[in-house]
Amino acid sequence: MVDAVTSRAEQVRAETATVLASLRGVWDEVVVDEWDHALQAAARAVADGADDELVLAAALHDIGHSPLLGGPGVADHSGLAREWLTPRFGARVGWLAGAHVAAKRHLSAVDPAYAAALSATSVSSLADQGGAAVDPEFVAHPWHRDAVRLRHYDDAAKVAGGIGVPAAVVLGLAFRLAR
Ligand SMILES: [Fe+2]
Repeated sequence: MVDAVTSRAEQVRAETATVLASLRGVWDEVVVDEWDHALQAAARAVADGADDELVLAAALHDIGHSPLLGGPGVADHSGLAREWLTPRFGARVGWLAGAHVAAKRHLSAVDPAYAAALSATSVSSLADQGGAAVDPEFVAHPWHRDAVRLRHYDDAAKVAGGIGVPAAVVLGLAFRLAR
């Protein structure tokens, strides 16, 4: 039994390593590729004292852009992340990563300073994502505050030469949180 659990965790860690590595050289933003973006987002989460699930969700929120999933520019990349993460790490990790677009739409609607500070890429994708909007379903969700936290890590993780966590940190979380 212990062996079965360990091998499941090892399998999930290996799958996560493959998906994470596939983000190298995938460009959604201008100054960081998705690999650096992922590791910087995780570093922001760690610095904020986020729990392990939130750190992992922050690291993997953009995996929908991986060529192994939807690829760069795919519609609904956040939904793809949720679908990939939920069976491996549970509903909360999946939902938090999947909500990063909803959180942007929400913050853009309620916080003019937030909207004004978005990166150029985020501004142009916001229109395709339905624009700024207050979604009562999002606000009522018990995890929506953590989704907002993740969104701030996301927006701050677009720094050329910025500090990221080592990939081993993300893979260690993947191993420990694997289901
Ligand atoms: Fe992102």
